[in-house]
Amino acid sequence: MKRTLSRTLACLALGLSAPLYAAGGGALPYHYDPELRNDASLQRGAKLFMNYCAGCHGLELLRYNRMAEDLRIPEDLLTDNLIFTSAKPGEHMKTAMQSSDAEQWFGVAPPDLTLTARSKGPSWIYSYLLTFYVDDSRPMGVNNLVLPGASMPHVLAPLQGYQALDEHHAEDDHGESAGGHGASHEPAFIEVEPGSMNTREYRAAVGDITNFLSYAAEPGKRDRQALGFKVIGYLIVLFILTWLLKREYWKDVH
Ligand code: HEC
Repeated sequence: MKRTLSRTLACLALGLSAPLYAAGGGALPYHYDPELRNDASLQRGAKLFMNYCAGCHGLELLRYNRMAEDLRIPEDLLTDNLIFTSAKPGEHMKTAMQSSDAEQWFGVAPPDLTLTARSKGPSWIYSYLLTFYVDDSRPMGVNNLVLPGASMPHVLAPLQGYQALDEHHAEDDHGESAGGHGASHEPAFIEVEPGSMNTREYRAAVGDITNFLSYAAEPGKRDRQALGFKVIGYLIVLFILTWLLKREYWKDVH
């Protein structure tokens, strides 16, 4: 009880930015920093999201046309390739799935993902999508390292394929792993069935989805950052002009 309280307080002290991941509170296996100004990545992420995730998950606080405008996606491309429901471009991005059906199928209704990048953090989402592994004891045949007992199927299996946990490797955890990134805590997996992408391509794709969800959680952030640069530029110009003006005035005084 006391420990939970102190952990909660510690998280509050960290400005609520520290996500409370997997119950144990261990470090996440992978890290991801969003690139909110990378339009190409956000567009790829939006496309992957609409194709692989929107069937179950909504982004109810985001409107299609706001997304298209922010990510510079032309309107015809939006309506032809990204809206799979009967929604109009001005509508919120709701999923077509009824949550009562979803609950029956999965036991848990797939949550809306608009704010997940803020509540759990981009690295959590990134790690979640990278750590589905084969587990025959689960109803979907897969389990997940950061959300043990997850009831979501491995929907990206066509891209990643299937992997299993490498139990032996996990035990002697102090050895340098082949990846050679110093003291990395990356879990060891063995490929069971290949997908259409190799590891590097799959990580890039998952990065794009995570980037897109980070944008969705805070669409205004890109604009704020851009505005910040303009304001600083303006202040620099103003400073130079003021300084020149001061020099001009004082010339006459001396
Ligand atoms: C077939 C339906 C389905 C599809 C498609 C699907 N999910 Fe899920 N997802 C779920 C369910 C069900 C859960 C709830 C899992 C649980 O809590 O056990 C979930 C949970 C999640 C969570 C955890 C959210 C939280 O706050 O706990 C994230 C993140 C997530 N999904 C991302 C995605 C992404 C990204 C995609 C597309 C690549 C996707 N999902 C596709 C059904 C789906």
